[in-house]
Amino acid sequence: MSTYSKTARLMQRGADFLGSETAILCGAMSWVSERSLVSAISNAGGFGVIACGAMTPDLLDREIAATKALTDRPFGVNLITMHPDLFDLIAVCEKHAVGHVVLAGGIPPKGSVEAIKGGKNPAKVVCFAPTLALAKKLLRSGADALVIEGMEAGGHIGPVSTSVLAQEMLPELAQDHLIFVAGGIGRGQAIAGYLEMGAAGVQLGTRFACAQESIAHPDFKKAFFRASARDAITSVQVDPRLPVIPVRALKNKGTEAFTVKQREVAGMLDRGEIAMAEAQLQIEHYWAGALRRAVIDGDIENGSLMAGQSVGMLKQEEPVAAIIEKLMAQSEDALTRRG
Ligand SMILES: Cc1cc2nc3c(=O)[nH]c(=O)nc-3n(C[C@H](O)[C@H](O)[C@H](O)COP(=O)(O)O)c2cc1C
Repeated sequence: MSTYSKTARLMQRGADFLGSETAILCGAMSWVSERSLVSAISNAGGFGVIACGAMTPDLLDREIAATKALTDRPFGVNLITMHPDLFDLIAVCEKHAVGHVVLAGGIPPKGSVEAIKGGKNPAKVVCFAPTLALAKKLLRSGADALVIEGMEAGGHIGPVSTSVLAQEMLPELAQDHLIFVAGGIGRGQAIAGYLEMGAAGVQLGTRFACAQESIAHPDFKKAFFRASARDAITSVQVDPRLPVIPVRALKNKGTEAFTVKQREVAGMLDRGEIAMAEAQLQIEHYWAGALRRAVIDGDIENGSLMAGQSVGMLKQEEPVAAIIEKLMAQSEDALTRRG
């Protein structure tokens, strides 16, 4: 990577923070970001992140240990804030001296940031910031770095595009804080642009989901290679009483099944059978199950094919190292042209 000196210089702060060669993170992707992909990313000079998703503390324990056996480079663990065993999962990360914990899926609950940063093996905390006000609050509350993720991304998304978030947040925050930009990044030229705006680094998901080292089912990968940007659509909320976070995925029968699921859960809510927190948890479990069906079982009709709009730029399976190399070369080329 030493040949990419302009890019490396702009990534220096981010890479130092992550302990990696480049400041390119592979965002956690449930079922996809496990030992194989995570270790491959870190071994290739990026920063891999295990997706804990709905894993039990035992399963996470085993996944971290297995990942450590495949790489001696740093990697992170992504925990979903609404997980009922969040604090046990934090303890598992501490036991393994995981260096970076990414908190996703909402505002970190009281005590969680402190729990990650305290203890015998304090870790760095990375949070997602959907607005500038919340970004400042998260930094005040102890977040060491932030990811700003636009609605072009795959999986659960916010309402604002990456380009707008970057313009809103980077001039205000990037001078003094570490901000990683995510969502819709498919080529290194875009990375160069965000680095020039002050980003410490970038996070990609879709671009890595179909890497050779990804355990995603061959049919899942083929669906990605066939898709264009406009096939990656967002889920809709059918009941105003049940707020659901939109999910971007390739359109299929599973997209319609989610509408049915929402009606079912809204009905239970109406009848007083479950509370709102439980309703939202059921929706999240639905997504975890649907994604598993597509990623692991290869059911690309009924499962969830979570994908970002950059999916249209994916044409073939490539090793992680080749993807990272290409991204760095494209970024360097863009920066060199600009002189
Ligand atoms: C298949 C898939 C699953 C994902 N699962 C998660 C997850 O479990 N937790 C999370 O924080 N983000 C998740 N994401 C978001 C990624 O970590 C990453 O931020 C996003 O993919 C970046 O945008 P991009 O897809 O445009 O590259 C997922 C994305 C995809 C495509």
